Amino acid sequence: MSDFTSEFWSWFIIIPSVLGLLYCVILLMRTNTVKEQKDGEVETMGHVWDEDLEELNNPLPRWWLMMFYITIVFGAVYLVLYPGLGSFAGILNWSSVDRYEQEVKETETLVAPLYAEYLATPVDDLKNNVSAMSTAKRLFANNCAICHGADAAGYTGFPNLTDHDWLYGGDEETVKATILNGRRAAMPAWGAGLGQKGVSEVSEYVYSLTRESVNKHYLPAGKQRYMAMCVACHGPEGKGNMAMGAPNLADNIWLYGGSLRAIAESVDKGRAGNMPAFGNQLTVSQIHLLTAYLSSLQKTVN
Ligand code: HEC
Ligand code: HEC
Repeated sequence: MSDFTSEFWSWFIIIPSVLGLLYCVILLMRTNTVKEQKDGEVETMGHVWDEDLEELNNPLPRWWLMMFYITIVFGAVYLVLYPGLGSFAGILNWSSVDRYEQEVKETETLVAPLYAEYLATPVDDLKNNVSAMSTAKRLFANNCAICHGADAAGYTGFPNLTDHDWLYGGDEETVKATILNGRRAAMPAWGAGLGQKGVSEVSEYVYSLTRESVNKHYLPAGKQRYMAMCVACHGPEGKGNMAMGAPNLADNIWLYGGSLRAIAESVDKGRAGNMPAFGNQLTVSQIHLLTAYLSSLQKTVN
């Protein structure tokens, strides 16, 4: 197998590498053949510093020289055994990819029985299993925390997974389906259809479902618009619809913010939250484990 697009690049590596090694050998041999002068005096290099400090041409100490030779031999043996010389794979046929795959396989066989045991344990028991939950916590940190936060409490646009308030439902089957297949929410943009005033009116009405209204004179028109355009998904009382992930607008828990301005922005531009599917990254057991983990995170309601 060659990583290079043409043989040229392979030789481009091989030739300088081999010549480099040979050059080192020749250089070492040459420096080692310093002839002692007849009278036992050592030849000087002709450099003099500080009036009388002369540079002598002594041979390198033997141990020092041996170390150089050893590194060269090591390098040559390495290049024969392992990949390094262009596209030559080395006679051991070692590759980092094989090594990685082998390690993954070893780990998998090691943890397989453990995961099988987890999968066979019901979510309600699993969430009390300390070692299972510490594995799940790591899975969450590696796969989910980037969007939902390390504590799963979410950010604007990324739901809090600890608050009992579910867009799609918090039962085991629904949470598993969410993780396995992902979710894509579709809140249409109403800005063009309603105009700025229409958006303000209906937003005022939505705001009034949880708080004291600011512009009360908007409410009648807002309610009318709501009943015409929003009930289909958010329901007559604003309680939402889990089948399509339409949030409850009457519980004062907001995915995108509950200020008048944030509500108006949701209505004006629409929203399209996207939870990616993990079906081909996580195993069934890992999803089972994560579901138990999310269940364990639910704060007790008081
Ligand atoms: C790229 C960002 C991203 C990552 C990574 C991500 N999520 Fe999500 N998740 C979202 C968004 C956005 C939503 C809300 C979708 C919507 O608006 O309807 C969501 C929704 C959810 C829901 C539904 C919540 C509800 O109220 O019904 C669950 C459960 C969930 N995620 C779990 C997970 C788990 C477990 C992981 C890790 C395996 C994960 N998510 C990774 C972005 C992400
Ligand atoms: C086709 C169904 C559908 C209709 C019709 C619809 N919505 Fe939505 N709405 C959604 C969905 C789904 C979301 C969640 C978007 C997301 O998770 O990204 C949403 C989100 C919202 C939000 C943000 C809630 C939050 O927690 O931040 C507001 C506000 C909202 N809708 C108001 C309205 C109003 C007002 C109307 C009528 C003018 C309306 N919606 C009509 C489906 C709908």
